[in-house]
Amino acid sequence: MVDQNSSPVGVADLRPTEEAIGTARSARRASPDAPLLAAVRGETPSRRPMWMMRQAGRSLPEYREIRKDVGMLDSCFRPDLLAEITLQPVRRHDADAAILFSDIVVPLKAAGVGVDIVAGRGPVLESPVRTADAVEALPVVDPSQLEAVVEGIGGILDELRDDQVLIGFAGAPFTLASYLIEGGPSKNHGVTKAMMYSQPQLWHALMDKLAPTVVRFLQVQIEAGADAVQLFDSWAGFLSLRDYREFVAPYSQKIIEAVRPYDVPVIHFGVNTGELLGEMAAVGPDVIGIDWKTPLDVAAQRVTASLTAAHEAGDLRVSAERRVRAIQGNLDPAILLAGPEVIGEQVRRVCREADRAVAAGDARGHIFNLGHGVLPETDPDAITRAFAEMHGQ
Ligand code: CP3
Repeated sequence: MVDQNSSPVGVADLRPTEEAIGTARSARRASPDAPLLAAVRGETPSRRPMWMMRQAGRSLPEYREIRKDVGMLDSCFRPDLLAEITLQPVRRHDADAAILFSDIVVPLKAAGVGVDIVAGRGPVLESPVRTADAVEALPVVDPSQLEAVVEGIGGILDELRDDQVLIGFAGAPFTLASYLIEGGPSKNHGVTKAMMYSQPQLWHALMDKLAPTVVRFLQVQIEAGADAVQLFDSWAGFLSLRDYREFVAPYSQKIIEAVRPYDVPVIHFGVNTGELLGEMAAVGPDVIGIDWKTPLDVAAQRVTASLTAAHEAGDLRVSAERRVRAIQGNLDPAILLAGPEVIGEQVRRVCREADRAVAAGDARGHIFNLGHGVLPETDPDAITRAFAEMHGQ
């Protein structure tokens, strides 16, 4: 297998200083025994940790109320709002983790890129990035442009219990690039993939430009006190394994390497990634997020098999001791619309599948989550019941 370490990504100089690592360590408030952190280390947590992607947002009346007169991106730059919205689901559902309320385009917006989030559609760019000039002109975010996020995180940490963790996040290269190149949400990511195939140099230049922004967005959150981070490559599942490996994986790997010295767990997640799981694990996250299509035990087994094969083939990214990770997932979000009985049964099934993965040695622990985000039409009481059901086991 190819040595992926030879890729030309220039994020190496963004590795944190000892001082920055110290700042991050003293900013973190969660106990090392918090269930999510214990599960990642492979210890038995005091209870199985659970959070839901998109737990903050439109399913909650208190969110709709507070966002009534404030634009989505404006709310991400208002420390009081981002703290309050992040905390709303944690209070209501007794979640084991808060996911920072923000968006994958926040660091681009902070850096001065013309982007807005259109309700019901998603991020829309003023002008798509499709030429060498546009890539050249794309700014890299400076940490000083993210002070509102830092302040908001301070407000969140003031309220979280010490057994609850704050998860920071960033969009990973393919997903971010897709919004930039397409100019908005896309059904098939055709323009993005066409650029990859026909102008690979331009694609790599864009990835090189984006990677430092992703790293800085993560670093700012970690230095402000995030206990873990999730790298969302939500749309990576549109790629074949071959293309993911060549065009995306080297950048995700460099991004994860650049935050590794902080020693906070990194979760990596995408949708429709059944074919990519081994490669997504090979880029080095501690936790692999699984969508709802692949049972957790099957997914974890695939990851082990793929990492073992890569290690045996001399893939330098995969060391022997990094073979087994925690898994996160993977209840179908639609199950939350199906009534209490179904929710109960399906929550128990997901836990059983996770337990099988752990028993087989394919994962050290399990973080319960959905297989993607909460659907906006979900009844918040159904979400609370799912949390209670899971915690009550
Ligand atoms: O609880 C959470 O998950 C909190 C924060 C969060 C949001 N976006 C809030 C949000 C996170 C982690 C994201 C990341 C994000 N943004 C991703 C990766 C995660 C994923 O869902 O796969 C992606 C692909 C985006 C881009 C994006 N932003 C989309 C596709 C949309 C939905 C558009 C719509 O209106 O349906 C957004 C907007 C957005 N981000 C909303 C929220 C709560 C809805 C906007 C609103 O409430 O008006």
